[in-house]
Amino acid sequence: MLDINKIRADFPILTQKVNGKPLVYFDNGATSQKPQVVIDAISKYYQEINANIHRGVHTLSQLATDAYETSRGKIQSHINAKFAHEVLFTSGTTHGINLVTNGFAAILKPGDEILVSALEHHSNIVPWQMLCEKTGAVLRVIPMNQEGELIMSEYDALLSNKTKIVTVNHISNALGTVNPIKYMIDKAHEVGAAILIDGAQAVPHLKPDVQELDCDFYVFSGHKICGPTGTGILYGKEAWLNKLPPYQGGGEMIKEVSFEKTTYAELPHKFEAGTPNIAGGIALGTAVDYMNEVGFNNIQQQEKELLDYGTKRLLEIEGLKIFGTAKEKTSVISFNIEGIHPYDIGTIIDKLGIAVRTGHHCAQPIMTFFNIPGTIRASFAFYNTKEEIDLMVAAVKKAQLMLS
Ligand code: ALA
Repeated sequence: MLDINKIRADFPILTQKVNGKPLVYFDNGATSQKPQVVIDAISKYYQEINANIHRGVHTLSQLATDAYETSRGKIQSHINAKFAHEVLFTSGTTHGINLVTNGFAAILKPGDEILVSALEHHSNIVPWQMLCEKTGAVLRVIPMNQEGELIMSEYDALLSNKTKIVTVNHISNALGTVNPIKYMIDKAHEVGAAILIDGAQAVPHLKPDVQELDCDFYVFSGHKICGPTGTGILYGKEAWLNKLPPYQGGGEMIKEVSFEKTTYAELPHKFEAGTPNIAGGIALGTAVDYMNEVGFNNIQQQEKELLDYGTKRLLEIEGLKIFGTAKEKTSVISFNIEGIHPYDIGTIIDKLGIAVRTGHHCAQPIMTFFNIPGTIRASFAFYNTKEEIDLMVAAVKKAQLMLS
């Protein structure tokens, strides 16, 4: 069991007041809060070892390089990648997906098919649409049901030898649905297609094992797992990363440069042009250590309790409807109240110290499916409590009274 008071003391921001009220932070789907150890790791880098990496023979450069590469190793072992060079640092999930779509531009032919799910965030839709425009490939959509679950029989029917890549999130940011990705990975491979998993909303809740999953690509952002913004990871199988062309040209990604011809560096450097977010990459390793110290079993247990309690308490409110009722879901509750715009509820409860996200959550096709403008989304992390849920429920009731 988690010692919740001890955990909360790790996060300095949680003791703040917002609009004169104690902060209740339920926007963890957008970004997580940061523990002191992560904040300290960033300062320590700048105070003690700030230097560019992979470049200098001088001591600081070597210390910075070691710290950065140690962090890559931590992430490799966290996701159980076979090789450290399969773990690429990115600026976030969006960067990782664009890196892959850019690479597939060299592979796809007109008429090839890309399968994307109805549950995706815009960052896992738009880059594929841009890729289709470039290559003449066709985007096909795996549909979902009223519970917000992908329909596997439809997925099976869409797969064919035309399918070159499937892209799906592990967990939906808007509804919290946990997708059956192991099944989807195996099925994609049966037709010879590659598969990318957008793990942005999964990694705060679970530890993916990329070898056991056997996915070709797994992407996530550092800032959702207690790490800094502007950090992320693209895991790619070695064979795929060798096959894809580089994303950006520049320093550090080359072997030899002449005006006649340039050859590229080995993995992972081929995909890491320019000076990266060194402090961020190092602190991401600290964040992964921190999450593992808290323990993913403890995290899951706490979040399951919050999900069950939050669902029960919110459903006490008359006219409240929850969107996303999948059998497998994580600690995200998306809801609306009859006759009231989600934005109005969000604005009023903010005045009471409650931070939730309102709107389409960068997943407009999901809102179109349910025929709604958006939802109010409460997304819980392991450092949240039932008492905070009580405060949110009271605030939502107050807002409802004011607005009806
Ligand atoms: N993708 C983030 C969210 O769901 C920003 O809020």
